[in-house]
Amino acid sequence: MSIVVRSISAYIPPLRITNEELAMRMDTTDEWIRSHTGIGARHIAPDGLQTSDMAVEAAKSALDKANIGPQELDYIIVATATPDYLGFPATACIVQDKIGAYGVAAFDVTAGCTGFIYALNIASSMLEASHGRNALVIGAEGLSRFVNWEDRSTAVLFGDGAGAAVLSRIDESARGCLSFILGAEGGGAKDLFLVQPERTKAFERQEPIVPFIYMDGKKVYDFAVKSITVLIQRLLHKAAYKLEDFAWIVPHQANARIVQAAAKRLSIPLDKFYVNIEEYANTSSASIPIALTEMSEKGLLKTNDLIMLVGFGAGLTYGAAVIRW
Ligand code: UT7
Repeated sequence: MSIVVRSISAYIPPLRITNEELAMRMDTTDEWIRSHTGIGARHIAPDGLQTSDMAVEAAKSALDKANIGPQELDYIIVATATPDYLGFPATACIVQDKIGAYGVAAFDVTAGCTGFIYALNIASSMLEASHGRNALVIGAEGLSRFVNWEDRSTAVLFGDGAGAAVLSRIDESARGCLSFILGAEGGGAKDLFLVQPERTKAFERQEPIVPFIYMDGKKVYDFAVKSITVLIQRLLHKAAYKLEDFAWIVPHQANARIVQAAAKRLSIPLDKFYVNIEEYANTSSASIPIALTEMSEKGLLKTNDLIMLVGFGAGLTYGAAVIRW
């Protein structure tokens, strides 16, 4: 018995904003953004298109590819840092309703950009433990609603989108989700967080403010390079695989320089990593499923290929997975 990724799909909002277009609105340049991040463009959700709407588009397409109906799901898990509602209800419940998965358990995972890897681990463990059949694991983000457009050091980094995977239990045991590592360094919570009013007083109404992203870029950069490096080393050790066994390493797409720095430290050829940040910028928990979808559409993922996912993000969290496709 094993838990396989049966299908993968993504939704990218059509509105594409290039670096040059951003440079017309704020004090930045295409040259700075490309040289510091590798980003060339980002896609932005139009007004009124919620995180759940993007999640639903990706989910419906993943269900179609898997050839299963919403009622055949046991769990819907949405990893998101930008839910439709901050706090409650879970975006997963809104998705559940919109796709018609009546009665199916639905909840969100908050683990920043590592959310998709956390959600994969949770879903595969739950399917295993409960002998469930299928789970829908989604990473979806409407980050543009939370960007501080006055802060050029963060505004240029993020984009919107969603990716969804259908996980299924099958009898074959050689394929599927083989190994996970999850971790967190909560001491870095304030290095990357959503600024919003501190709700310390009861019985008093506070003026709402629009929450916005704050990031200490340098600290997060150092954490990210360390996380990728250590995670790859630990996975190779834990799972007893050799680097050559892996067809691909699929990192969270935050900054191409982070991947280059980790590759250099570990002496891994850069073409072992799949990087598509140039087109989508950083879509947080959606970045890995969007990358997997693109790879699948390009025919880069073959049955039985061994792939590694590595992520890091707000929390600060980190995580990695080994999957035999
Ligand atoms: O997915 C969540 C995880 N997030 C990340 O992984 C992000 C990690 N951090 C990073 O990727 C990098 O720290 C950044 C890309 C955010 C920043 O790169 P940096 O090389 O650390 O730049 P910096 O913040 O040190 O800024 C260097 C200079 C500054 O100017 P001065 O003070 O040297 O004159 C900034 O004001 O670049 C300036 N700058 C910009 N210039 C043009 C900052 N943002 C911009 C901009 N355009 N957009």
